[in-house]
Amino acid sequence: MGQDESIPGELLSRLTRFGRVVLLDTVASTNDHALSLASGHEPAVVVARRQTRGRGRFRRPWYSDDESLTFSLLLSKDAPGLPRAGLIVHVAGLALCNAIERATGLKPLIRWPNDVMHRDVKLAGILCEGRRSAIAIGVGLNVNQTTFPEDVHDAGSLRTATGREWDRFELLEGFLKEMLGLLAEAGKGETAGLLSALKERSAVLGRRVEVATLLRRHVGTVIDLDSEGRIVLRTDAGRLLVLGAGQVRRLR
Ligand code: BTN
Repeated sequence: MGQDESIPGELLSRLTRFGRVVLLDTVASTNDHALSLASGHEPAVVVARRQTRGRGRFRRPWYSDDESLTFSLLLSKDAPGLPRAGLIVHVAGLALCNAIERATGLKPLIRWPNDVMHRDVKLAGILCEGRRSAIAIGVGLNVNQTTFPEDVHDAGSLRTATGREWDRFELLEGFLKEMLGLLAEAGKGETAGLLSALKERSAVLGRRVEVATLLRRHVGTVIDLDSEGRIVLRTDAGRLLVLGAGQVRRLR
């Protein structure tokens, strides 16, 4: 591990209000590192400047560099207000969209289940992974990149979307505030507001899409998002399907 990620002292002390903060230079994956720290003293946040084996969904590689914000929020599965496992990724997506909008004025949407999009460009991906008593919410947000690897096709950054640079740690603070605020709301049982906010942030609700699941592809229109975070798809053949996982592509 090289020199650790550095951050102004005042901002660091603001971040520590949310829990333990671990700043790393290079790590294989912040999700793995965070899960290895699980101790019952969560929340904790692991931030890295670089990952050597960052991964996305379906174990695809996830590219990030020091222009991106790469972190994992580690929560105890017993944390008050923690929604059911399937919903957490959506709550994290909502928190990230809210934080981005607050900071930059952009109005990002969630391409179900875990991509944060601005127009047709992917700004961030989220990967939630659990182990025993803890869950790691891993976030890769493209902040100041202007170029991307050749094999990444639909990526953009806050900088390419707004034409200026952004402070990664201010964005992290914004995310943590939003996320812990939403969890507190959920803890009080206020899930109706959460669900309607998720629907407003959806890039797929009401849209014609192709959904690739492990077994097959479905084409149809997303007619609802249910309280478990699943989409309800009316297929072109007229069937109603409730899907909890899959890769969505919007069709024109
Ligand atoms: C996806 O879009 O498929 C999800 C990407 C999630 C990437 C983040 S970066 C921080 C955390 N550590 C990882 O190895 N992955 C997640």
